Parts: sequence; C-alpha cells; structure tokens
Amino acid sequence: MLDFKKEFPVLTKYTYLNTAYSGLMHQSLTAWRRRHDLDYLEGGSLYRENHHNFTEQVRASVGGFFNCNTECVSLVPNFSFAFNTLLAGLGSRRKVLLLNNDYPSVNLPFQRGDFEICYAAINENLEDNIGKAVARHKPDILALSIVQYINGIKIDLSFLKKLKEAYPKLMIIADGTQFCGTEFFDFENSGIDIIGASAYKWMLAGYGNGFMLFKKEIIPELFGVAFTKNNTKQFSTYQTHLMNYFEPGHLDSLSFGSLLYAIQFLTSAGQEKIASKINMLSSKAKQKLSELGLLEKVVLQRDNHSGIFNIKGDFTLFNHLKANNILCSQRGNGIRVAFHFYNSEKDLNVLVSHLKK
Ligand SMILES: Cc1ncc(COP(=O)(O)O)c(C=O)c1O
Repeated sequence: MLDFKKEFPVLTKYTYLNTAYSGLMHQSLTAWRRRHDLDYLEGGSLYRENHHNFTEQVRASVGGFFNCNTECVSLVPNFSFAFNTLLAGLGSRRKVLLLNNDYPSVNLPFQRGDFEICYAAINENLEDNIGKAVARHKPDILALSIVQYINGIKIDLSFLKKLKEAYPKLMIIADGTQFCGTEFFDFENSGIDIIGASAYKWMLAGYGNGFMLFKKEIIPELFGVAFTKNNTKQFSTYQTHLMNYFEPGHLDSLSFGSLLYAIQFLTSAGQEKIASKINMLSSKAKQKLSELGLLEKVVLQRDNHSGIFNIKGDFTLFNHLKANNILCSQRGNGIRVAFHFYNSEKDLNVLVSHLKK
C-alpha cells in the first residue's frame, strides 16, 4: 500500500484538489529524474546511445497501458501541439461536429481553420445531443474531450462505440487529457479513432510529454499524400509515417522517461484501484456538494461522472479556500475541484467544512 503523504509531499501541506490543473510530482519519479540527469552529466552522448530502443520502449509501454499497437503510438510534447499537427493532416475531411465550450485547444484549431463546423451542447443530454447532430449534419469528424475541463462531465464511452458502429465513416477524435490515468481505457476496442492527451495531469508524468494513439486503418488517411513515400527500414511503415509528422527531431528522454516511469507507477498502484477510489470520492463529493446546493443541474442529472466538479463560488470564496491551503482553480463561472486517488474523504470534508462557513 502506497504511503501517499510520503510519495506526494504536497499532500502534507495542502488539501490538494487541483489535479485537473496539474497532477502531483512524486518522490520516486523525482529520484528517477535526478539519476537520469546525472547519467547525462557524467556520460554526455553515451547516455543517449540506446535512445531509439528507449523511445520504442516508451511507445510500447503507452500502447500496453491503453491496449494500442506500439506502431500506432506517437510520443508528443503536449496535447495542443499534437492536435494542431493532426489537423494539418486531415485531408479532405471538412465537416466537423464540436461541443459548444469544449476545451479551447480542441475547438480553436478547427474554428481557425478551413472547416465547416456544427455544434452539440454539453448538458445532461450530451450523448443524445451528439446523436441528433450527427444524424442531422452528417459530419466527417466528431472531435471532443472525454471529460470536460470546466465541470467534469464525462461522455459515455459505450455511446461513442455505438455511434461508430452506426456511422463507420465518421472519424472520432478524442482529447483524453482530463481522462487518461483515471481508469483502464481499452483504446483498440473503443469507438474512438484517434485520442491524444497531455500526461501531466491524471497520469502524473510531469510536463513536456503526451501521446497520440491511432487506429491502424486511419493512419493512411493522415497526410495521405506522403504515406507511400517513406523509406526508413528500422520501423514499420505506419510507425515511420507517424514519426515523420508527430515525432520530428530528437525526443527529450527526461520527459518521455518520466512518462514511462509514471505508467509503471500507475500500473503498480493498480488501475482498478485508482478508478474505484476516484469513483468513491466522486460519488461522495457529488452527494455532499449537492446537499449544499453548489452543483449545476446538468451534473446532478448525470449518472456517470468524473472526479472533477465545478462549484458555485466567486473570487472571495476562491481566495478563502486558498488562504486555508485548499488548492483548486477558478474555471467557467465557478471553482473547479478535482479528486485523484491520492485524495481522501478527509480532503472532501475539509473542503465541505470551509464551504459551510
Ligand atoms: C480537456 C483538456 N484538454 C487538454 C488540456 C491541456 O492541453 P495542453 O497540455 O496541450 O495545454 C487541458 C488542460 O487544461 C484540458 O483541460
């Protein structure tokens, strides 16, 4: 059993409800990062001699964690950068269904680009809204966050699977930044064609790393013209093609080594245990915060919610919480709190006692 306070020193000083902003650094990852930098200091170029094998190991580890073939994994510096790259390669797919007020890095690149855009609303009927919009507008692409950054509304993944079965030509692109790391996600058997995420939040991997996962059959559609022109023998055609666009240049072994380390850490903590702890805290938080009348109706009316909540509250309340060492963020019209597996019921109770005041 992990000693959370020892592994995450921030927890000894703060009631940390801010994973939706930044996941916590942990002691053992910091130790690994120190060793990594010492190897560089003492070995110069020698420390990168096995770099290709190392990055392949990171890809394999990300693929293993999410059930995605290694050759369909790209290592990227963050979600937003990779998403812009992706959009440049979408070819003739032009009509896009977005969610109103989804995370700006999902919506803005489409809104700025040469796309025809339609929208579905994020409310208690999210899945129904998407289903109707797809039937009505017949988009080529649906792009959305799995978990909404402002209020934590989570799309039903089984709905996306059914949607893909009903509309096999619809390309479903997901942002997993507020989702990946919270529960086991079986990418290969999901309805999603492409998912990208930054890993510094729920995956606890620190900054500068993220990933994109692709279904094999979708890869030739991206930057399609160049697909047949690659000639690198070291990797598969699919991997080489993705590397040309998503991994140009030298990759940072500190960042991607941190991602590898974090995946091992989450795996040993147990993905099921992580998910059940978040679910337990989420349902208790939902109950207690709704008793205080602080949650939106749209959230109350949904069954399956994430570990993120937005509570009614202004700058004064936010400052009060901060002054009492409760770390959270102002988002949308309220205050966002988030519960990860290193949080406890005590954290929720501390929050609630201050809200009552
Ligand atoms: C839903 C969502 N997607 C993506 C991101 C992060 O993107 P990036 O790391 O590229 O800034 C965030 C960060 O807050 C987010 O909430």
